[in-house]
Amino acid sequence: MADNVQNQGVQTTGHVWDGDLQELNNPLPTWWTYSFYATIVFALVYWLIYPSWPMGSSFLKGFSGITYTNVQGEEEQWHWNTRAKLLKESQEALAMQQPYYDRLMQTPYQQISQDPELMSFVVSAGKVAFSDNCAGCHQAGGAGKVGFFPNLADDDWLYGGSFDAIQATITHGRRGYMPPYAEALSPVQVDELANYVLSLSGEPADGTKAANGKALFHSHAAACFYCHGENAKGRQDIGAANLTDKVWLWADVPGGQDGAAKLAAVKAVINGGLNKGVMPAWEGRLSPEQIKLLTVYVHELGGGK
Ligand code: HEC
Ligand code: HEC
Repeated sequence: MADNVQNQGVQTTGHVWDGDLQELNNPLPTWWTYSFYATIVFALVYWLIYPSWPMGSSFLKGFSGITYTNVQGEEEQWHWNTRAKLLKESQEALAMQQPYYDRLMQTPYQQISQDPELMSFVVSAGKVAFSDNCAGCHQAGGAGKVGFFPNLADDDWLYGGSFDAIQATITHGRRGYMPPYAEALSPVQVDELANYVLSLSGEPADGTKAANGKALFHSHAAACFYCHGENAKGRQDIGAANLTDKVWLWADVPGGQDGAAKLAAVKAVINGGLNKGVMPAWEGRLSPEQIKLLTVYVHELGGGK
C-alpha cells in the first residue's frame, strides 16, 4: 500500500479512516512492558500476603500475621489488620515503659527528682496520663477553672501539696463541704462576713462591716474559724480554703467587675455553702503505678511542697 511507503514500512492495524488516516501498530516500549508485568507480579504477591479478595461471607486473609498478647496474657496471631497492628505497637510501647514504672515504684518519692532520667519519664508519661484522665476537668496543664476545678499548677493547695497528700487525693478522691448560711445568719451578718473575707486578701472592703464580720467569723454562731482556722488560712485536712491568699476557687472574686460584684460572689458562697467540688477516687481505675506517676507529675506542676 502507498501508506506503507509514507510510513516507511511500519505495520499498520489495517484500519483506514477518511481515506488516508491510519493507525500504526508500533510495539510497546520494552520498559513499559516489563513495568506492566512487574505490577501484575506485585499485585499477586500482595494479595497473598495481605487481606485481599472477598470470598463469600469472608475474605482472603493473606499469609502475613501479627502476633500480640491477648487479654488472657497468651500470644495470639491474627491476620494482618490495623487494629492488631495498633494493639501490638501499644503493647511494645508499654513493655518499653515497664522498666521505668518498676524504677518509679522502687524509688521513694523524695528521691525521684534526683534521678533525671526517671524524672524525664515522669514528665512525658505523666503528661499523657494527665491529658487522658484529668485534663477534662482540671484543664490542660492543670490550669483549673474558677467555680469548678482547682488550679493544680499553682503552689496553693486545698488538701495539701505533699506527695502523701496528693497521693491520698488522687487515690480516694475529695469532696469539700461547707454548710449554707442563708438560714442561720441574717443578710446583714452575711454582708459583714463577706466584707471581712474580702479584707483578708487585700480586696477593698467596708472597714466597720469587716470588723463586725471578723467578730462573727470567730463567734460560735457562725463558727467559720472552726473550719477555716483562727488565722483564716484554712485547714487542709478537710480542704477548707485559705481565705488570705488571693487564690479563689468558688467565689469568683478576680472575675468580679467591681467591688459590688466581688462582694456578691463571696456572699453567694456563704449563703449557699459548698458541696459541689467532687474529685473522683481513682483507686481501682488507675494502677498504683499510674497513681504514683500522676502524684509526682502533679507535685511537679505545682512546684512541689
Ligand atoms: C470530674 C472532674 C475531675 C476529674 C476527672 C479530676 N479531678 Fe481532681 N479535682 C476535681 C475537683 C472538683 C477538685 C476539688 C475538690 C474540692 O474542692 O473538694 C479536685 C481536686 C484535686 C486535687 C486537690 C487540689 C488541692 O488544691 O488540694 C488534686 C491534686 C487533683 N484533683 C488531681 C487530679 C488528678 C491527678 C486527676 C486525674 C487522675 C484528677 N484530679 C481528675 C475534679 C476532678
Ligand atoms: C464545715 C466547715 C466549714 C465551715 C464552718 C465554713 N467553711 Fe468556708 N469552706 C469550707 C470548705 C471545705 C471550702 C472549700 C470547699 C471546696 O473546695 O469544695 C470552703 C470555702 C469557702 C470559701 C470559698 C473560697 C474560694 O476559694 O472561693 C469562702 C469565701 C468561705 N469558705 C467562707 C466561709 C465563711 C465566711 C464561713 C463562716 C460563715 C465559712 N466559710 C464556714 C468549709 C467550711
